[in-house]
Amino acid sequence: MKGIVLAGGTGSRLFPLTKITNKHLLPIYDKPMIYYPIQTLVDAGITDIMVVTGGKNSGDFLRLLANGKHFGLKHIAYTYQEGEGGIADALNLCEHFADGQDICVVLGDNIIEKNILDAAEAFQKQGKGARILLKEVHDAERFGVAEFAGDRIIGIEEKPAHPKSQYAVTGIYMYDATVFDKIRTCKPSGRNELEITDVNNAYIQEGTMSFSFLDGWWTDAGTFESLLRAANLVAKTRIADGAADGGSV
Ligand code: G1P
Repeated sequence: MKGIVLAGGTGSRLFPLTKITNKHLLPIYDKPMIYYPIQTLVDAGITDIMVVTGGKNSGDFLRLLANGKHFGLKHIAYTYQEGEGGIADALNLCEHFADGQDICVVLGDNIIEKNILDAAEAFQKQGKGARILLKEVHDAERFGVAEFAGDRIIGIEEKPAHPKSQYAVTGIYMYDATVFDKIRTCKPSGRNELEITDVNNAYIQEGTMSFSFLDGWWTDAGTFESLLRAANLVAKTRIADGAADGGSV
């Protein structure tokens, strides 16, 4: 399976922090934000990845990540999203890179405590379709939200005023090669973006969407509150791990 990190966008919710740099280059505790989604992929055994950047600072990603060797990557590729077309539009740039293989997509501002190895293995066994990672939250209206009938997922609503469950769709998605056909059927949403939620709903309609629950904490980092929360969570975990190892931080 190949990996994709989506790190475009203008980061307008973090202005003026993002006035002169890309959101994904901002610090989360002791590392630039984009280190975390890359590590998520590496921890899932994925060593061939593409980074989709955008905006005015795309060159900084190359300087920061270089050839990816210090992450243990075998190959890192870069591409550039023009404008603000949304997550599915950014993903659409990766068809040639994916080359017919399964892909694991991580949003560049999604940070997790543990790893997604079990979900990645379950997806490989599944053989086709898609798998998303869900997390129970208390502010579901901020996210894509899953709707269930029994233990089946029957739909996802993007930032609903009245969420039908407390299960947020995290920004970690596993897709087979048909994802690019599905993106081609998407129309721009009210915010004039190609929504990843529409792509996921296409898999649900087809009956090939499965899901796993994410282990450990999860946060995005696209607002001042979540950026601070992400840094605090990482720091807390790092300090607890250091204490467990008997080391100092
Ligand atoms: C995006 C997706 C949303 C998902 C979230 C996870 O939202 O559209 O479905 O729950 O990422 O971080 P955004 O925060 O980019 O608007």
